[in-house]
Amino acid sequence: MKTVLSGIRPTGDLHLGNYIGALRNFVEMQHQYNCYFFIADFHSLTTHPTPENIQGNVRSVLAQYIACGLDPEKATIYIQSDVPEVIELYLYLNMNAYLGELERCSSFKEKIRQHPDNVNAGLLTYPTLMAADILIHKANFVPVGKDQEQHLEMARTFGNRFNRMYGEDYFPEPQAFNFGKELVKIPALNGAGKMGKSEGESSTIFLTDTPKQIEKKVKRAVTDAGPTEPNSPMSEPIANLFQLMNVVSEPDTIVFFKEKYNDCSIRYGDLKKQLAEDMIAFVNPIREKIEAVMADEKNLNRVAEMGKEKAKASAGKTIREVRELIGFKPY
Ligand code: TYM
Repeated sequence: MKTVLSGIRPTGDLHLGNYIGALRNFVEMQHQYNCYFFIADFHSLTTHPTPENIQGNVRSVLAQYIACGLDPEKATIYIQSDVPEVIELYLYLNMNAYLGELERCSSFKEKIRQHPDNVNAGLLTYPTLMAADILIHKANFVPVGKDQEQHLEMARTFGNRFNRMYGEDYFPEPQAFNFGKELVKIPALNGAGKMGKSEGESSTIFLTDTPKQIEKKVKRAVTDAGPTEPNSPMSEPIANLFQLMNVVSEPDTIVFFKEKYNDCSIRYGDLKKQLAEDMIAFVNPIREKIEAVMADEKNLNRVAEMGKEKAKASAGKTIREVRELIGFKPY
């Protein structure tokens, strides 16, 4: 059976981009494949969170995973720091990851630009840790958004390099996956960029947002002056609103507003009202479920414990085999 793995950094509440880019995709696969979904808390250390931050975020992200439909009886849901075997593989992969290729990684370049005062080694080797996450369970498919495409490419490079070095076809080639379709980038509401913390909380729809918060955010979404000629091309902010509609609205609704755009009779206020309504209908059931799951502390502990055991069994096996290949034989 093929293996599927994905993960999210616990840097706050999950948003619509996480859900559409990675989670929903994964939820659909969990019944057909051997599945691992984890909380990437080691990765979150690059930005130096406090111990309280980490604890709270890990717990709420775990609850949000379950509320989104991850089934702890089917998939192995675990916390990365519960599986230190991954750090050992990270070390081995780092020995054959070269400075030039790590420096060329676009997420690294972006982070240097955003935080020139915090260019740490963890940031530089972020792609090798991510490769270790994937290779430790010998994953074949990795449901992710478009922003992770280059990291997946690097995971393939590191896995293949290891295989060549030790003369064995050990790690399979992990593929970024979105049900055979193009990877997606869910846009922010500010007219540019992708939805996520870096574009600001007011441009991001969180799965924990109340109807009032969603309404307010969508109302303030960036638009343009409106089309002046029939069938004119859409500016980025408007195309983004339509892309969000594609996610949450009925096909008829989208056709209706596209026609209005094309004959120049569109009123962006109406478009936003509809988008907010559909977004609320989409997010509300998830938010309500999150509240219910969060309240059941015992169940959260049980899920984390169960996931830890299963993930450690799989990771431990890989590490034993990798040690043998490298030449660390047991005496
Ligand atoms: P992170 O935590 O930034 O995002 C988690 C997942 O959500 C997707 N995503 C989006 N997809 C579409 N549109 C958006 N606006 C959007 N924003 C976020 C991301 O593509 C990702 O799939 N490095 C990873 C976490 C990670 C990981 C892994 C993932 C660590 N190890 C191993 C897969 C496999 C990250 O920072 O994602």
